[in-house]
Amino acid sequence: MLDVRQVTKIFGQKAAVEKVSFAIDGPAFVGIIGRSGAGKSTFLRMMNSLTPATSGEIRVDGRDILALRGRDARAWQSDCAMIFQQFNLVPRMDVVSNVLHGILNRRSTLQTVFSMWSKDDIVQALSILDRLGIAEQAPKRAEALSGGQQQRVAIARALMQDPRIILADEPIASLDPMNAQIVMDTLKRINVEDGRMVIANLHTLDTARRYCDRVIGMRDGRVVFDGVPEQLTTGVARDIYGADASFNESATSTAIPTDARADDAYAASMLA
Ligand SMILES: Nc1ncnc2c1ncn2[C@@H]1O[C@H](COP(=O)(O)OP(=O)(O)OP(=O)(O)O)[C@@H](O)[C@H]1O
Ligand SMILES: [Mg+2]
Repeated sequence: MLDVRQVTKIFGQKAAVEKVSFAIDGPAFVGIIGRSGAGKSTFLRMMNSLTPATSGEIRVDGRDILALRGRDARAWQSDCAMIFQQFNLVPRMDVVSNVLHGILNRRSTLQTVFSMWSKDDIVQALSILDRLGIAEQAPKRAEALSGGQQQRVAIARALMQDPRIILADEPIASLDPMNAQIVMDTLKRINVEDGRMVIANLHTLDTARRYCDRVIGMRDGRVVFDGVPEQLTTGVARDIYGADASFNESATSTAIPTDARADDAYAASMLA
């Protein structure tokens, strides 16, 4: 379904992403891990046509999405919705309107300016909010919600696009452990129940282990690990994050557990 071939992005002299290749067959939950600056966000932005690649191909069902331009590129952007660490909602706008913004590019400017949503669109937005357990928040301003609720609104907005792939750039990095779990469980449900591929940049190993079918580890723009969570041993983590990373920095993108017990303790705290 997804075939990434030798994808490279060079900024000035520096390769932010270098010859990244991997293939995914079927709607897996994929985690991309790596320390700060490894190239995770740049890769997701290329997948979503937000940043042009320097070279390489990303084939989705045989079609190279990096080569799409104009209307085709916009159509692809609706097919792969993006979720960000900072939610990117319109803070003063009500929740249901934020969700309806997921289909802005399907509408004329006039319809948008006058907020002329069809009854079907509104019913659909409300049913997505209901599915994600936040229907009662629909009339509130987005800024009045907790971070976890706002991220679920962002996921609802993504679902409104009816995407095949959901790209999530550190979706839980701004959330407390309980909200982080709710948001990750929500993404997992969408993956399993709807068969939508999820590709998420994640900043802790434990989250990657717990939710992903497949993990890609990046270091300095390159793929240094590609496997299932069970293969993510401490030694592998050191390869990905570098030997100087320490478990105490578990809230940062350099987090690695130093031993299995500490790892278990962290996982337990994530579940608390
Ligand atoms: N627009 C840009 N112009 C120049 N360099 C950039 C640009 N965007 C990213 N880079 C560089 O590319 C490299 C990869 O950055 P990227 O944001 O993809 O890393 P990341 O893995 O997402 O890091 P983090 O965990 O901090 O989010 C970094 O060295 C960064 O400074
Ligand atoms: Mg990033």
